[in-house]
Amino acid sequence: MTQKHTRVIAIYPGSFDPITNGHLDVIERGSRLFDRLIVSVLRNEAKAPLFSVQERMEMLAETVRPFPNVEVDSFHGLLADYALAKNAGVILRGIRAISDYENELQMALMNRRLQPGLETAFLLAGEAFSFISSRLVKEVIGLGGNITGLVPPLVEQRLRERFKSKQELQEK
Ligand code: PNS
Repeated sequence: MTQKHTRVIAIYPGSFDPITNGHLDVIERGSRLFDRLIVSVLRNEAKAPLFSVQERMEMLAETVRPFPNVEVDSFHGLLADYALAKNAGVILRGIRAISDYENELQMALMNRRLQPGLETAFLLAGEAFSFISSRLVKEVIGLGGNITGLVPPLVEQRLRERFKSKQELQEK
């Protein structure tokens, strides 16, 4: 009997301002589950990000380089429309704690309503990553704390540079 294998394309959407080791864990595990994984940055003018979409995509691209089936993109508008345009059948999201669940449930159900057949797959964050968020990483480094091991080394470098230039601006 021949086995039919449909190629599964998944989208991992997010703000990624910037990518953390928690995101990287989801990407690494997702790359083993799906044939193609598109990590996509939301272009949202309403938010005031630390890094531009371009900068976030550069850091992501550098970080996902070891995974040949992972690519980096950006999107705006409805995620469900973007998934359809990319032929993706799955949205991938990571869940760290119960507090993430409520919002993720709402988004998954809304996306399924907008695009019936579009599934959201959740990966539980590895316990070493369950407390990491981009927001906290920025807060800690902004206050002079140590973030080594929480983000990829190249991101740590970019964060240091960004906060150094912010500080220099404030001192002027
Ligand atoms: O990393 P984040 O900020 O938690 O990611 C949130 C994201 C980008 C997944 C979410 O804001 C999103 O999908 N926005 C696109 C707009 C949309 O489709 N909204 C309606 C369905 S929930």
